Amino acid sequence: MKNIVISGTGLYQPPHVITNAELVASFNAYVDLQNAKNASRIAAGEQIAMVPSSVEFIEKASGIKQRYVLDKAGVLDPTRMKPHFVPRADSELSLMAEIAVDASKKALAAAGKTAAQVDGVLCAAANMQRAYPAMACEIQQALGAGGYGFDMNVACSSATFAIEQAANAVRSGSAKCVLVVNPEITSAHLEWRDRDCHFIFGDVCTAVIVEAADTATSADPWQVLGTRLVTQYSNNIRNNAGFMNRCEDSDPDARDKTFMQEGRKVFKEVVPMAAAHIEGHLHDLGFEPTQVRRFWLHQANLGMNQLIVRKLVGQEVGDDLAPIILSEYANTASAGSIIAFHHHRGDLKAGDLGVICSFGAGYSVGSVVVRRI
Ligand code: COA
Repeated sequence: MKNIVISGTGLYQPPHVITNAELVASFNAYVDLQNAKNASRIAAGEQIAMVPSSVEFIEKASGIKQRYVLDKAGVLDPTRMKPHFVPRADSELSLMAEIAVDASKKALAAAGKTAAQVDGVLCAAANMQRAYPAMACEIQQALGAGGYGFDMNVACSSATFAIEQAANAVRSGSAKCVLVVNPEITSAHLEWRDRDCHFIFGDVCTAVIVEAADTATSADPWQVLGTRLVTQYSNNIRNNAGFMNRCEDSDPDARDKTFMQEGRKVFKEVVPMAAAHIEGHLHDLGFEPTQVRRFWLHQANLGMNQLIVRKLVGQEVGDDLAPIILSEYANTASAGSIIAFHHHRGDLKAGDLGVICSFGAGYSVGSVVVRRI
């Protein structure tokens, strides 16, 4: 079987940071406005008073300290509470494609490849800017890549699921060099007015180049020893926005048209699922979890990651074994484990083993076991 490698990664980081203090100040200003608007109903006994958020809760419950966003002013405006994006003409490059092109160019440069050498583009993300034409086709054209492109969405597992498709395409010969790109504009699907989740997400884009070992010229190739994907249906993370909404005569601003979750249930159910998945995958490849030098895990919750790795290796672990990037980036959907891999692999030595693993809505879990060459 052909040896497959990840030969480069790239990261686009939006220009604006929102700290927890800024986020909570704007959320609490929104709460004051709502409560003032509803003062007479609240005084009459209706249970509709909104409760403020707190920085302490956010940091303790999630580990998130800040997030990057494409538009800060709209999110922090207590009379708006969502980013403001200016519509672009069909003849212009779309915003999602723009950040994808940036991350892709960096990944190509890291892999030592030109766009013309790419013959497959997978745009894999939790949300697509439009239904069609596929984002991947626009990104392919903007880069000057050849072959084919398609979009795919498995929510927070989109990147790892796409890496498996890319590896299989190269292995089978249907492509020689595949770009997997994950433009995650999560600020547009987050309900910034909901205290339970307003702190969760951040925007970013990651990109990964997948090719055969014998075509790779990169100074930093990572052999893909195996990929494994699993899904198990759950309603605990859900977003009902879709093309049939207008035919259902539903309110486009209704709560169920943005990200919703039962966070505590997700925590409880996904931790054992992800740990068992990683352990089973490693076992079938002939490895024990204790042989893994680094876990680049999905970044949704600090406690979740600590628990998963503790289950795997049987002891408390620090950042060195399972680096945390969510304190800086928050949850970036499918890009989280790739950001961790992008930033925290330079110190590993040839022969070192690592696991990239995503978990999220679906539920879905995807693992990619890699070894530094
Ligand atoms: N500020 C202050 N207090 C808050 C708050 C906020 N923003 N949001 C909730 N609280 C309160 C709740 O009202 C509740 O109070 P109570 O105990 O008096 O009822 C308490 O804090 C606990 O709320 P809960 O929602 O149970 O918090 P949690 O400890 O489960 O943490 C998450 C919430 C979302 C951080 C956590 O469940 C999580 O990260 N889960 C995993 C999610 C995940 O992986 N999702 C994948 C998405 S891709």
